[in-house]
Amino acid sequence: MHVPAHGGGAGLPADVREAFGSYAHYDLTELPGYDDLFHPTGIIAAAQQLAAELWQAEAAYFLAGGASAGVRAMLAAVCNPGDEVLVGRNAHKSLADALVFTGAVPRYLPVESRDGLLLNVTPQAVREGLVRYPRAKALYLTSPGYNGVAADLAAIAGMARETGVFLLVDEAHGAHFRFSSGLPQPAGPFCDLCVQSWHKTLGALTPGAVLHCHSSRVDRRRLRDALQAVQTTSPPYPLLASLDAVRRRMALSGENVVREMLAQARTLRRVLAAKFPLLTAEEAKQLGFALDETRITILTARAGIDGLALGNLLATCNIETELIQSHAVLAVVGPGYNPDWTEKVAACLQAMPPVRAFNMYLPPPPGLPPVRYTPREAWFLPSAAAALPDAAGCAAAAPLVCYPPGVPLVYPGEEITPAVVEYLLAARSAGVIVHGVDEQGLVRIIAEV
Ligand SMILES: Cc1ncc(COP(=O)(O)O)c(C=O)c1O
Repeated sequence: MHVPAHGGGAGLPADVREAFGSYAHYDLTELPGYDDLFHPTGIIAAAQQLAAELWQAEAAYFLAGGASAGVRAMLAAVCNPGDEVLVGRNAHKSLADALVFTGAVPRYLPVESRDGLLLNVTPQAVREGLVRYPRAKALYLTSPGYNGVAADLAAIAGMARETGVFLLVDEAHGAHFRFSSGLPQPAGPFCDLCVQSWHKTLGALTPGAVLHCHSSRVDRRRLRDALQAVQTTSPPYPLLASLDAVRRRMALSGENVVREMLAQARTLRRVLAAKFPLLTAEEAKQLGFALDETRITILTARAGIDGLALGNLLATCNIETELIQSHAVLAVVGPGYNPDWTEKVAACLQAMPPVRAFNMYLPPPPGLPPVRYTPREAWFLPSAAAALPDAAGCAAAAPLVCYPPGVPLVYPGEEITPAVVEYLLAARSAGVIVHGVDEQGLVRIIAEV
């Protein structure tokens, strides 16, 4: 006589029961023997402790709201309203919400790019940011980025230590780094807090993720409060169980899991590289970064072909990739990769007609727009709808984000420049989903009086 009201599955609609009956069996609430996600003393506490030990963290917190929840909690744990935070401009859009929620003031760091691809932040950019904003309380980096390009965290951590800023890392795509010397270095040894999306790389259920605390400088009580503020009070146990099971697998055979992922990825790379240029570890290294080779980026712009057309041709062979952009296509190899898929790709490539030429209908991504308001100010100001072309020169009330990869082009409070308008119009007509622009092509702008 308790929730969830489906009573272990019997109360689900028949079709849902058929599909998810065994899931529902484990979909329980805080019953005796179970635990409380926010005040754990039993099985969740034990599972989190084991996760912390494996990732050599002081504490680990399971996230029922994905890495997105972790990003919000991470910032809220260390930043007060008005605190400056240096932010690499490849951050996921969940950071925009975190900036509204906390009232922290972002100071953006430029991100290197190549062939239209966002790489990462350089130590030089961090150094300049720290000099320019000496009052910064935190440095927020996304490493690796979506395409697996990791920043030089060892060099950057030295600067963070010298200046005393908190180093917060969105490592959503890098939970597996700790298990192979053939991957970029994990963030753990360098940062105060980091967030990992275990559903993205380790095979947990969506949106299972974990936040690790690596330093005693972080106020744990405040971190726990922040985690409660951004998550459900009804934690999904099947999701939490999947996190614990993934942790167990990684503890027992993490090196083998990742070795296999890398081996499969390298085989797939060889097949793809016979036809297209790929972003390689060597190239990333030359540019001062490290590459996770399980992220395979086909550099379609460099090849002179259109990535959207290539993505569609692959889809006709039932090959679904992670990210399709005009300048690049990204394939991800995870623990669920089936070696047969490589042969399928090879066969598809062999039969593939010539791919339409890259016709540059997307202008180069616009530079950093001028800041008119902080994200939090923008949230509370009155806003209005405007057609995208008419919004040029106005301040954005909501982030404008090509999705995926989910990296805001414009943060709330920033000016929608003519270059942004041109880019987004072209992106939309090329079929890119843009969050922040509705079906009628309207955006929210700050209604200035
Ligand atoms: C870099 C980065 N951080 C955070 C997130 C959010 O992760 P989640 O889906 O686990 O909330 C994403 C999602 O794509 C991401 O790419």
